[in-house]
Amino acid sequence: MIRADQALAWRALQGHYEAHGRELDLREAFARDPARFEAFALQAPEVFADLSKNRWDLMTRKLLLELAHECGVPARRDAMFAGEPINTTEGRAVLHTALRAPRGAGPHSDEVHAVLDAMLAFAERVRDAPASGIRDVVNIGIGGSDLGPQMGVLALDAVASPAITVHFVSNVDGHDITPVLARCKPESTLFIVASKTFTTQETMANAEVARAWFVAGGGRNIARHFVGTTTNLEAAARFGITTTFGFWDWVGGRYSMWSAIGLPIAIAIGAEGFRALLAGAHAMDRHFVEAPPERNLPLQLGLLDVWNRDFHRYGSRAVVPYHHGLRRLPAYLQQLEMESNGKGVDLEGCALPYGSAPVVWGEPGTSGQHAFFQLLHQGIDVVPVEFIAVRTPSHPHTALHRMTLANCLAQSQALMSGKSAQQALAERAPTASSTIDADVLARHRSFPGNRPSTTLLVDALTPRSLGALVALYEHRVFTSGAVWGVNSFDQWGVELGKALCSELLPRLDTGDTTGLDASTGGLLRRLRG
Ligand code: F6P
Repeated sequence: MIRADQALAWRALQGHYEAHGRELDLREAFARDPARFEAFALQAPEVFADLSKNRWDLMTRKLLLELAHECGVPARRDAMFAGEPINTTEGRAVLHTALRAPRGAGPHSDEVHAVLDAMLAFAERVRDAPASGIRDVVNIGIGGSDLGPQMGVLALDAVASPAITVHFVSNVDGHDITPVLARCKPESTLFIVASKTFTTQETMANAEVARAWFVAGGGRNIARHFVGTTTNLEAAARFGITTTFGFWDWVGGRYSMWSAIGLPIAIAIGAEGFRALLAGAHAMDRHFVEAPPERNLPLQLGLLDVWNRDFHRYGSRAVVPYHHGLRRLPAYLQQLEMESNGKGVDLEGCALPYGSAPVVWGEPGTSGQHAFFQLLHQGIDVVPVEFIAVRTPSHPHTALHRMTLANCLAQSQALMSGKSAQQALAERAPTASSTIDADVLARHRSFPGNRPSTTLLVDALTPRSLGALVALYEHRVFTSGAVWGVNSFDQWGVELGKALCSELLPRLDTGDTTGLDASTGGLLRRLRG
């Protein structure tokens, strides 16, 4: 396996970029090739993708596929699925795919399915609200122990039990947990303390606040009202938790929504729904392993990310789902992509000579249109946009849905087509100043166009399609990480801040600023004052 910049295809891509990439105009490309849409359309399980509005051509894609081959992406993928310790800095296997493999089909199948069966049986008991007495479920966790379950519960709201409200508390800032507790009653609340390590400061602190609130409110049976989802069963037991659903060190935090960490989703949508979520993800796993490179969607998306980041040098990517249920997907993807591939060194610890993960950000459409789309259309920086549209809504308001879809299509169309100053000059602009020079106004009202976007389509947002969509993103991140030659499965970059926080915590009590830099010391003194 070699790093991207050592590959022959990398050199070829550099030449191709200079000759045909840098200046590629999407409008001309579509005019030249009437079959461009079909050429860059891919169908994967549950997800259709239109990659044609990206600034690449068939030769780019061919060279990128060669790059993947030279960088050993298929071999690395097979090593991941086989349970080899590809997370080298932690000496761990990376086997979230085993969590969604059918019984008997993947590594660790017996343990995986034993926990899954137990967790789903528990979820069903909780969902039986008259018998369980549970009305509110509060998931206390952060990062991967929060974002996946939260994103999933919101996305699948249409098929969730109306009898139970699922809340999420992640922030150590007490403004997060306080209003949640105010809406709950101890006797009808179930707390899930979700933490892979069961040592994370934020989660442990919030869990203690929840326990104190429970006891102060007359709650007696901690064992019944607190459960744990963790790999650290001993620490959970020390907290007083006797019902625990475990998982394993070969499940990364940001890849853990398929494990016991998915309990809030299972409670919301039930056992059958959760199994459909896993089945959708498994279908995407098979596609990633079996589909030829020319039709492999996660592979091609990951390679397109490399092209956009290292050749066009786009520093960020906006994710804009046109389904309100997916409003936490951008946040989920921030952790998935930026914690996985936001790395500065390769597997040997050598500095990368190119950019790795872009900044991933976004908001649902159409809300985002009224916030940041101005910059996307006319700003100096080019930001590739990823649109996600859902053909069939889970609400009955047909007119609203048609507007949602029309907006989604209009935005990608506008980004690409733009509008010349000449076109703008020919238009009326009723809100424009009556005294402004017409040419000046036309320049303000023109759009450069040729801005890239990808559109993903799913038929309906169901547990199965959500599972497939999330697994698609996981494998896409895997692909770009493998090409960049980074370890996509560690996160050392979060350590330093954690350690410094532990040192600063007592100083907030004592006011001791000895040895601190002047800024940190000055701020600390002001915060205490
Ligand atoms: O942010 C660092 C991190 O380790 C994430 O990778 C993880 O998802 C999160 O903290 C929470 O960790 P835990 O589940 O162990 O509480």
